[in-house]
Amino acid sequence: MKHRNTLTAIAAATVASLSLAGCGGGSDDPSSSAGAGSSGGGAAATKQLEIFSWWTSGSEDAALKSLISAYTAKYADVQVTNGAVAGGGGGNAQQILQTRIQGGNPPDTFQTHPNESLKVYLDADALEDITSVYDATGLKDKMPADMLKAHENNGDGKYYGLSVGAHRGNVLWYSIPVLEKAGVTAPSGAYTPEQFLTDLEKVKASGATPLCLGAKDTFAVAQLFENTMLGIVGKDKWNQLTTNQLQWSDPDVAKAADTFTKVMAYADSDASAMTWDQAAKKLGEGQCAFNSMGDWEYGELVKAGKAEGTDFGYVAHPGSDGTFVLVVDTFAVAKGAKNLENAKNWMTVLADPKAQLEFNKLKGSTPIRNDVDVSSLPKYQQAAAEAYRSNGLVWSIAHGQATPPTFQQGFFDAVTQFVSNKDSAAFTQALVSAAG
Ligand code: GAL
Repeated sequence: MKHRNTLTAIAAATVASLSLAGCGGGSDDPSSSAGAGSSGGGAAATKQLEIFSWWTSGSEDAALKSLISAYTAKYADVQVTNGAVAGGGGGNAQQILQTRIQGGNPPDTFQTHPNESLKVYLDADALEDITSVYDATGLKDKMPADMLKAHENNGDGKYYGLSVGAHRGNVLWYSIPVLEKAGVTAPSGAYTPEQFLTDLEKVKASGATPLCLGAKDTFAVAQLFENTMLGIVGKDKWNQLTTNQLQWSDPDVAKAADTFTKVMAYADSDASAMTWDQAAKKLGEGQCAFNSMGDWEYGELVKAGKAEGTDFGYVAHPGSDGTFVLVVDTFAVAKGAKNLENAKNWMTVLADPKAQLEFNKLKGSTPIRNDVDVSSLPKYQQAAAEAYRSNGLVWSIAHGQATPPTFQQGFFDAVTQFVSNKDSAAFTQALVSAAG
């Protein structure tokens, strides 16, 4: 797997030059050694904090604001700027962030993901070391070892990002009324790709739209493919493919491509005009039967007043029961942050079990700390927390955690091409080249 210092192909030049030029400022800054809650020289005097993210949908915004409220309850004299940029999956935000970092004007703290996503910023020397926050909050003992490692730089024992929740990416949501009307039994447990195709056909025959899809957000189509692929290749091959131990020309990938084409034939004719949250709401309104999406969809459905068990249900994406695709939400502190101490205090708030519980309740995800009591969470989220703590875990490709960003972009491009030309051989070849 090629490992260049790029977040997306579009931002490639930006980040590559970031790594050359460096973008620090923090290392020469006397405040850069400030620990959590400590006084960090000049930085301590500031009264501002800019928080950058892509959380702008109804549930994302509400969840972010719960964290901001937890912060301002403790640091009332700090004025928080919510710098969220619209665009699901960070489609727009990540490019803006690259430009700001390169221009020496980073937000104090920004949303990202652990593992390969965080590595991009580490390789560009764009992050502050926040180990002091881990030490002050006892977080190291409260996270699974592999998860902790995904916040380090090549196992250096220092931490550069802090995660607040783990989303499950491989969930198939369904509308209970639409399935009932079509005479389809609500799926459960080990639902297979073949059964899914049969049910899609039955829904179509009933006159309803079988599959909602928020294809206006590029990540949504890539995510449908990755979920389909997981259901066919399984966890072990997924891990081998994403770490270059197995070629993308493997016959199971071609089989997944074939299934994906069949599933896509049932997609909503309005898909290309819909964002992920519009597609989620459409399912909640009973205007389509299925939607494959991460469990931020749960937050969005609940925010729209829909009830699990009545309006909608869920199952692991066909074939992927027992595996949890990780899409983990993380914040990092930018090197050279103007409000360094405030940003580090933001990190301490993110680590707080109460703040995590409140946030995840609204967001649809699972607290990253394994000591948070989740019994007050709704049924779906309790099941997801149980799955997070017991299932096999794999990193999402579509959300940039499993593979370097150059591959992620190649993956997006290959899926986009494949949707239009349905050329399975060209598709797998594109993936082989991207992994190069
Ligand atoms: C993911 C993020 C989720 C959710 C989703 C859609 O990358 O981890 O929290 O917001 O994008 O915007």
